[in-house]
Amino acid sequence: MQHPAIDNIFVQQFNLSTPIALAPMALATGGQLAAACARAGALSLVGGGYGDLSWTQREYRDAVARLNGNKQDLSRLGCGFISWKLQEDRSAFDWLLDQPVKPAAIMLSFGDPTVFSKTASDQNIPIICQIQTMAQLPQAVDAGASVIVAQGTEAGGHGMNDFEGRSTFTFVPEVADWLTKYSPQTALLAAGGIMDGRGLAAALMLGAQGALIGSRLWASTQSLATSNAKQTAVLAHGDDTARSAIFDILRSKNWPEQFNFRAIRNRLHRKWEGRFNELVANPNEAIQDYLEGVRAEDYDRAHVTVGQGVGMINNILSAEQLIDDINRQALCLLHREAGEK
Ligand SMILES: Cc1cc2nc3c(=O)[nH]c(=O)nc-3n(C[C@H](O)[C@H](O)[C@H](O)COP(=O)(O)O)c2cc1C
Repeated sequence: MQHPAIDNIFVQQFNLSTPIALAPMALATGGQLAAACARAGALSLVGGGYGDLSWTQREYRDAVARLNGNKQDLSRLGCGFISWKLQEDRSAFDWLLDQPVKPAAIMLSFGDPTVFSKTASDQNIPIICQIQTMAQLPQAVDAGASVIVAQGTEAGGHGMNDFEGRSTFTFVPEVADWLTKYSPQTALLAAGGIMDGRGLAAALMLGAQGALIGSRLWASTQSLATSNAKQTAVLAHGDDTARSAIFDILRSKNWPEQFNFRAIRNRLHRKWEGRFNELVANPNEAIQDYLEGVRAEDYDRAHVTVGQGVGMINNILSAEQLIDDINRQALCLLHREAGEK
């Protein structure tokens, strides 16, 4: 049975047919995945990540080319960046703002968004801020965010460390209540552990207008992750991930201490658990081991970036199929809850 689509301030703002945003996953959300999700009716954010200029140029241009001038699809295409990294090098951000096809939105995560959001707002480009604690919320709203993403520690990739981080289930309704009171025109998306229609329906019930999905769309045919990494995720279950800074050290990334990284807790990760100071003091041999793992696609050593929802990744499907399945299941559940047949 066909249920009417979800209608709210988020889907209206970006002309969406489903309240889903594709997460801007560094090195995984390239042009092909972003274009597929935009065509499927979701907001799609290219993974500008660390702000590598040539990568962002190639993948954003690829997404635009694939959307072939279709105005509706292009109105759903944006890009995401890591704010603390933009403070070191903002060339990819500045390049994006100069494009003939302007991004529908720019998402900023992990650090003070203020300077970049001001530049984007001056050009009428909506800003999406991903946050992890209540303390970050007023700053994101003051920076002019039209969408807040409340990210729980279940999420794949970077997020708040376990001391300060919040679970999606308690964080989203608390942010929703705050926004209702102080900034009702700001939309809210839930992120972290949303893998299927149950998760999307739950996000809406918790007071969000939609969900930002990373891991489940990472495990699609169009993401830039390797097939071997995706198959490793299919075989893993939800107990198999950990959040730590170990892979950041192995990848020589200088992340601020408050943020760390969730990925599959593989053999190399386990080897360094409880020996973090030793790893920091003398990382070279471990880095070589890791880099060989990456070259060989050996995921006992290389990282596989997925969140705790990995236990719900049982197959690799096209992004279009995943979005359609998630949307349909959520609509069925929500209408069932509403007592409709
Ligand atoms: C492979 C991968 C890479 C990610 N890279 C980024 C990134 O570059 N910037 C960012 O803001 N978030 C990044 N994230 C986090 C997502 O924005 C989002 O919060 C997360 O994927 C939501 O949780 P989920 O993975 O359970 O869906 C990444 C997530 C994954 C899985």
